[in-house]
Amino acid sequence: TFDEVPGRYKVRSLALAEAGRHQIRLAEHEMPGLMALRAEYGPSQPLAGARIAGSLHMTVQTAVLIETLVDLGAEVRWASCNIFSTQDEAAAAIAVGRDGTPDAPAGVPVFAWKGESLEEYWDCTEQIMLWPTEDGGVQGPNMILDDGGDATMLVHLGVEYEAAGAVPADTAEGDLDHSHEMNVVRAVLRRSLATDPQRWTRIAPAILGVTEETTTGVHRLYHLAEKGELLFPAINVNDSVTKSKFDNKYGIRHSLPDGINRATDVLIGGKVAFVAGYGDVGKGAAEAFRGQGARVIVSEVDPICALQAAMDGFQVARIEDVLDEADFFITTTGNFGVITADHMAAMKDKAIVGNIGHFDNEIDMAGLARIPGITRTEIKPQVHEWTFPDGRSIIVLSEGRLLNLGNATGHPSFVMSNSFTNQVIGQIELYTKAGGPDAYATDVFRLPKVLDEKVARLHLDALGVRLTELSPAQADYLGVKVEGPYKPEHYRY
Ligand code: NAI
Repeated sequence: TFDEVPGRYKVRSLALAEAGRHQIRLAEHEMPGLMALRAEYGPSQPLAGARIAGSLHMTVQTAVLIETLVDLGAEVRWASCNIFSTQDEAAAAIAVGRDGTPDAPAGVPVFAWKGESLEEYWDCTEQIMLWPTEDGGVQGPNMILDDGGDATMLVHLGVEYEAAGAVPADTAEGDLDHSHEMNVVRAVLRRSLATDPQRWTRIAPAILGVTEETTTGVHRLYHLAEKGELLFPAINVNDSVTKSKFDNKYGIRHSLPDGINRATDVLIGGKVAFVAGYGDVGKGAAEAFRGQGARVIVSEVDPICALQAAMDGFQVARIEDVLDEADFFITTTGNFGVITADHMAAMKDKAIVGNIGHFDNEIDMAGLARIPGITRTEIKPQVHEWTFPDGRSIIVLSEGRLLNLGNATGHPSFVMSNSFTNQVIGQIELYTKAGGPDAYATDVFRLPKVLDEKVARLHLDALGVRLTELSPAQADYLGVKVEGPYKPEHYRY
């Protein structure tokens, strides 16, 4: 069952709003960057007139982001960017709003609940694009805030299919290529083409830009830009230092064991953990396992990251060589087909398998389901035991979707404050500069380093950090300004 007013909100239950509001209040205390932006920009309302379509995990932390955007003047519509990642109490609190009650909701239009089907997921994504107008029609957003690129993709495909006058026929559904999901997207766009054949063609030119949260979404944006198909300017939030070197690493260091513990409560200490990928997420994952006393084995394709892992003291091996050794297998690559059905069939009895990269195609779940004689037992939602004909079994978390948000509640507030402060600054940059002399071109940009440093600065006091100040002579010696930026663009942190 749902609480729903079509076009206004669709959440699991508005009765959860009070619980959500308490958590949001506590999260605000842990999100000093967002609260500082409210204080700095609340009076000047830089986002007045912005209609932001947001597609990002509908958690408590995201609720603080949404209400910050509102406090800066924006109108917002929201959906989650994963079928399992919504915290229903946060969604309820957002729908009810700070001034509403469950009987008279007065919040932000939100379309999100934990455990959506893919069809429901894409319906929700479509909903954030359709803003009711006073004359009973609809208009699109003029900004997108995206995590993984699904909202951006919907607009781009809508425009492409409208130009062609038809949505292409469904493709045969393969396993790891998202073909099933793409057929679901096509169904949504077929419906929109039938009701309004110019919808996306009208919406797209009004979009002033997108700010993108994660590595996988950023890859998609650069890909569009390289092909010359990007339709509006984009800010790559992920590659702000205060995002990927914090959220992807320290956030994962916290939320990976959180997900594993809530799902299984299996002791990690003394076990062997295999982590595929040693990028920012992999580094956080490996460190978390080591912190719990596991022996960690890492795999990499990139010699630089493999060497880093080795120097950090981790064994670096190929998955096929450690299948009967590891108790945990976690993918962090953002790539597809990293754990195959054959791999899973050769794992140790009761091995725990999960993915923490953005999409679910890192693990071949369809191939697993096709193993003759295999059975699937639901231990609890988002925890499944797959038993092979010989009686051995493995435990798969969140059906191969990102387990920190599927089995737990994602990263904690303080680290998300860094990420989301970048998001809000990115929205302000794109929205306020559009149409002016400093407007961003139709390409992918990172925020200037001085803003990255500002995000970090906003989080120092809460941790009791006392920063050393350069003297003018020292600044001169280093060739930087006393107030920064302190590092050249190519510095890697
Ligand atoms: P990254 O690019 O820094 O790291 C990925 C690493 O995987 C790279 O070093 C790459 O060489 C390696 N890799 C690629 N294919 C591989 C293979 N077949 N075997 C072994 N290693 C392989 O990316 P980052 O920032 O670490 O993100 C990884 C994924 O996690 C992305 O999908 C990103 O969107 C997602 N993410 C998820 C979060 C969450 O809360 N669950 C938070 C942040 C990012």
